Amino acid sequence: MTKTAESAVADQPGLVLRDFGGGPFGIYIHVPFCATRCGYCDFNTYTAGELGTSASPQSWFEALRGELATAAEQFAGLASATPEVETIFVGGGTPSLLGGDGLANVLGAVRENFTLAAGAEVTTESNPESTSPEFFETLLAGGFTRISLGMQSAAAHVLKVLDRTHTPGRAVAAAKEARAAGFEHVNLDLIYGTPGETDADLDASLDAVLSAGVDHVSAYSLIVEDGTALARRVRRGELPAPDDDVLAARYERIDQRLEAAGLGWYEVSNWAANDAARCRHNLGYWDGGDWLGAGPGAHSHVGGVRWWNVKHPARYADRVALGGLPVAGWETLTESERYMERVMLTARLRTGLPLTDLAPDAKLAVDAVIADGLAENRHGNLVLTDRGRLLADAVVRDLLG
Ligand SMILES: C[S@@+](CC[C@H](N)C(=O)[O-])C[C@H]1O[C@@H](n2cnc3c(N)ncnc32)[C@H](O)[C@@H]1O
Ligand code: SF4
Repeated sequence: MTKTAESAVADQPGLVLRDFGGGPFGIYIHVPFCATRCGYCDFNTYTAGELGTSASPQSWFEALRGELATAAEQFAGLASATPEVETIFVGGGTPSLLGGDGLANVLGAVRENFTLAAGAEVTTESNPESTSPEFFETLLAGGFTRISLGMQSAAAHVLKVLDRTHTPGRAVAAAKEARAAGFEHVNLDLIYGTPGETDADLDASLDAVLSAGVDHVSAYSLIVEDGTALARRVRRGELPAPDDDVLAARYERIDQRLEAAGLGWYEVSNWAANDAARCRHNLGYWDGGDWLGAGPGAHSHVGGVRWWNVKHPARYADRVALGGLPVAGWETLTESERYMERVMLTARLRTGLPLTDLAPDAKLAVDAVIADGLAENRHGNLVLTDRGRLLADAVVRDLLG
């Protein structure tokens, strides 16, 4: 952990904020509750049974309000005025468990402490089974502008392996309800490469996604995360690990079908119908913007200082009650860490990595990835080719030497 000698404006142990970085400013809110735990997921989330009486959506909300107020106060001590909030992303966990009114209250708590920019993007993640037409209508009236639904697959047996509790058709029905309520921007998340998924299952999932009329799709290869129930099942030999060649073929199929339907890739795992449909909040992360992450375990980044909150909702609420930010750890990125991050994130974007951002000693690696057909020089930006997107991590490793 690196500490700087710059002025301390934070009162919690150790954390020293610098000024804002000058990029767009966003707020991420973490909702750490799920009805049940999906076997593949290692996000910081808890079921009611796991929490017992130690924390609840009510105690979480009170603590969240406290954290937002403290953060706003501490930002007011920085040299630059706190920028207007360009994007808000409520994620989880399962934010839709809070209901439409609960989520509107979350947005209200942000507004009590920060100023939203005109035309701000306000997204909430939602699980298909905890949504309804009224839920979406309440969100729209409350100021949300974008909905992201976890669909994962349209095949019942794949959803079963993933421990998803919704029926195959529910995600598409929910997306249509969101559109009918008036949401222009709706995303569906897909997971591909689940053990037992066939090419025909993937095609059925893509048919379903394309029938939903959404303007954004995220597709992630299934990651077997250490410590999850899925990892234990793979270790015991009950399920095969996802196969790299299958994953590559599935990615190509997803890309072909989405592109043919008018959804273009703008980041390796994300496709959008047009520029306005791209997730501005995530672009803020990828472009090195500033963001406050509020809620248990949330990560923040302001002007090259990164910090992360205590993870357990009960400990988080205890820390907020003490009056400071509920920080578990922090670091100031060194110049070389900032460089590595910039290369890692911008190389995955369709806009590409400005060649002028690369260190002189990366020139040989640039020539090699271009010669290998993994990237192209487009108007001074290094942009991954179709094949390069399949090997994005390896390209980044090569560029960073
Ligand atoms: C953490 S979830 C939160 C949203 C919501 N609870 C849901 O499940 O729809 C966000 C997305 O991350 C993706 N995800 C989570 N764990 C993953 C894993 N191990 N491998 C691939 N994708 C994963 C899923 O597509 C999921 O929709
Ligand atoms: S994938 Fe979503 S619903 Fe499933 S445990 Fe993770 S956060 Fe909860």
